[in-house]
Amino acid sequence: MPFVKYEPKGEIAYLVIDRPEALNALNAQVLADLSAALDEVDLETVRCLIVRGAGEKSFVAGADIAQMKDLDPAAGEAFGKQGNDVFLKLESFPIPVIAAIGGYALGGGCELAMSCDFRICSDTAVFGQPETGLGITPGFGGTQRLARLVGPGMAKQMIYTARNIKADEALRIGLVNAVYPADELYAAAEKLALTIAGNAPIAVRACKKAINDGAALTIEEAVVCEEKAFGSCFGTADQREGMGAFLEKRKHGPYTNR
Ligand code: CAA
Repeated sequence: MPFVKYEPKGEIAYLVIDRPEALNALNAQVLADLSAALDEVDLETVRCLIVRGAGEKSFVAGADIAQMKDLDPAAGEAFGKQGNDVFLKLESFPIPVIAAIGGYALGGGCELAMSCDFRICSDTAVFGQPETGLGITPGFGGTQRLARLVGPGMAKQMIYTARNIKADEALRIGLVNAVYPADELYAAAEKLALTIAGNAPIAVRACKKAINDGAALTIEEAVVCEEKAFGSCFGTADQREGMGAFLEKRKHGPYTNR
């Protein structure tokens, strides 16, 4: 049985990290299953993904500490690379990915969430990078993505202290976009995903690519990413439909992804 379930639901789909006996901790098999689940996504139909954890207690409680305990430096580096490769695949996945965090998002779990396009969480969520308390650094991108998301000062404080933060603080520092009562989280995630799915898919994908590609460039180089994205939408059936609908004073769509 794979540890990651791919659950399509029309134009949106869930990726469910499903290892509740270990609070969905990421071992090498879970990472391989996450990569395989991404390969399963039907990009003709699905326009937005939601990543969540199975069960009510945890999104993902980190990389698997039992698996890491006896690694030597080379094996530690290889495990880090396996996680980074899968999270880079998720980050650059062609369609938007929302992390819906119900419960613990610690270590590799916080890093998984940060590889998604944006994050929403339950009021029971807990975030943190506890690695320095375990004698290691974050291993799946935490030193890099946390600093980019919340700024180096806050990232350094969280990582050096290994202190967990609750949902309200995650919202305050910009780690998540919104906090919901636990029993409303997944409905809220689906509503957001369906709103995204209702917009022109070629344009949404082009926006994701332009934002990601431009992030590490100078503004002069970055706006060229946008010029290319902008240009690529013209002449599509969806661009003609969107602009036509506006000019004809009617609701657009449905968009055809063409
Ligand atoms: N790895 C392996 N197993 C884990 C785990 C992890 N990261 N997190 C939880 N589990 C397991 C526990 O060992 C336990 O298993 P058993 O029932 O077999 O004993 C089960 O999940 C339930 O966990 P707890 O009994 O500890 O549950 P709790 O409610 O008392 O505590 C918790 C919950 C605070 C999240 C606690 O489990 C915890 O602190 N987990 C570890 C969190 C952590 O340090 N994560 C970072 C890992 S390092 C990392 O991720 C490196 C990287 O960047 C790649």
